[in-house]
Amino acid sequence: MNPRHLLTLEEFSPKEVSGLLGLAAKIKKSPSNYQKALAGQCLAMIFDKSSARTRISFEVGTYQLGGHALFINGSEIQIGKRESVSDTAKVLSRYVQGVMIRTYAHSIVEELAENSGVPIINGLTDSHHPCQVLADFQTVQEEFGKLKGLQLVYVGDGNNMTHSLMIISAKTGVHCRVVCPPGYEPDSTILKSAQKEGEKTGSRIEMTHQVEGSTKAADVVYTDVWASMGQESEKEKRVKDFQGYQVNEKLMSESPKAIFLHCLPAHRGEEVSAGVIDGKQSRVWDQAENRLHAQKAVLVTLLSGKAKRSKN
Ligand code: CP
Ligand code: NVA
Repeated sequence: MNPRHLLTLEEFSPKEVSGLLGLAAKIKKSPSNYQKALAGQCLAMIFDKSSARTRISFEVGTYQLGGHALFINGSEIQIGKRESVSDTAKVLSRYVQGVMIRTYAHSIVEELAENSGVPIINGLTDSHHPCQVLADFQTVQEEFGKLKGLQLVYVGDGNNMTHSLMIISAKTGVHCRVVCPPGYEPDSTILKSAQKEGEKTGSRIEMTHQVEGSTKAADVVYTDVWASMGQESEKEKRVKDFQGYQVNEKLMSESPKAIFLHCLPAHRGEEVSAGVIDGKQSRVWDQAENRLHAQKAVLVTLLSGKAKRSKN
């Protein structure tokens, strides 16, 4: 049997996503019950892009589960350059019980998964950030005591965060509205597929360019940087194109009961005002903490004996 991977969350059923979120809550409540869950297991963590939260939450999380995490700088392993992605997958599978990778093209994590005998966990690609949205929805669940029927409004770039938020919303029955400037829409295939999945769970996934009035019924307002990692050269143009799409006090005043989330790192004065991210509606520090618990839930689910090894 092939191992289970976490590449986009599309591969998990609504029930399994709820299971992951439930496990994250249990681990947060009683971490000592899981101290030996990964005893004797190793997680390789490959980073082709910078990271604080993802690296630290996975490294600390693996340690707290009784396992060991290895940080591998992408420039050393040079995945797909020094040797093929499939050879790296096969070799790593002989040493470690799981691989977490942060890289550029999503096709790299797909190719790793196709050739790996151990679970591959996507720690962010240009198109998806599934580990982040598990922590995000854990935070939303803690705040409202439920997910189904809530309205999330994402204001900003139609990027990897947007895609993963649409996917997890569709899996959990959350309505998701993406508000972005023309030319910065999310990928239409992912949007359509989330809309289709949402039909099953009662979740409405939609997109608009109009900021005014967009957050009126919001329970959660979410934003992310205007220029993601790898888009640094477009920053100046993007700052101009995103004028009017800042989450600020005026926008948040339209939904006074909503909470504000941001995956971080944040740029105060660009996608969010300091008053909002440091203000009463913000839950960004709980959200960042939940990366630890949510990532432990992913590790326990995929690595702790439940995932079967393949012939590789
Ligand atoms: N939110 C997030 O993934 O943070 P890092 O880029 O610091 O890992
Ligand atoms: N969209 C951002 C998310 C960082 C966690 C990026 O890819 O840089």
